[in-house]
Amino acid sequence: MKKLLVINGPNLNMLGIREPNLYGKGTYKDLVELIEATAKELGCEVECYQSNHEGAIVDKIQSAYGMFDAIIINPAAYTHTSIAILDALKAVAIPAAEIHISDVTKREDFRQISYAGMACEVHYIGMGFDGYVEAMKYFVNK
Ligand code: DQA
Repeated sequence: MKKLLVINGPNLNMLGIREPNLYGKGTYKDLVELIEATAKELGCEVECYQSNHEGAIVDKIQSAYGMFDAIIINPAAYTHTSIAILDALKAVAIPAAEIHISDVTKREDFRQISYAGMACEVHYIGMGFDGYVEAMKYFVNK
């Protein structure tokens, strides 16, 4: 059975409250429930992790080494700033998917660079919560 790790970065615990015009009305709890229901349907194991702290995300990626078949990551704002998260993904070399709920390609200039994305083999951008589901299907069927 495949083991997937889903990592969500800063402020994604505020889903539902935070800029619902951009991120929708679904809460972080709704997202975790969707991911767990999808795992049941697909027949895979999943762990969901959220942190507002860059170093904690680096620690989580490092601890995934040898433990998970794939990482599905929405690094949130750290996407655009964190070489440490990029390096951690490269260090463990676990196949990874980049997720963004909103369509960052149509937003501010400072969101146009994605460091973490450079270590990801697939990208689901602007698909809302469906991006997580599609990434799970991708790794289960791979
Ligand atoms: C986000 C996009 C990022 O630019 C932003 O900082 C986030 C969320 C998204 O899911 O659309 O916090 O990663």
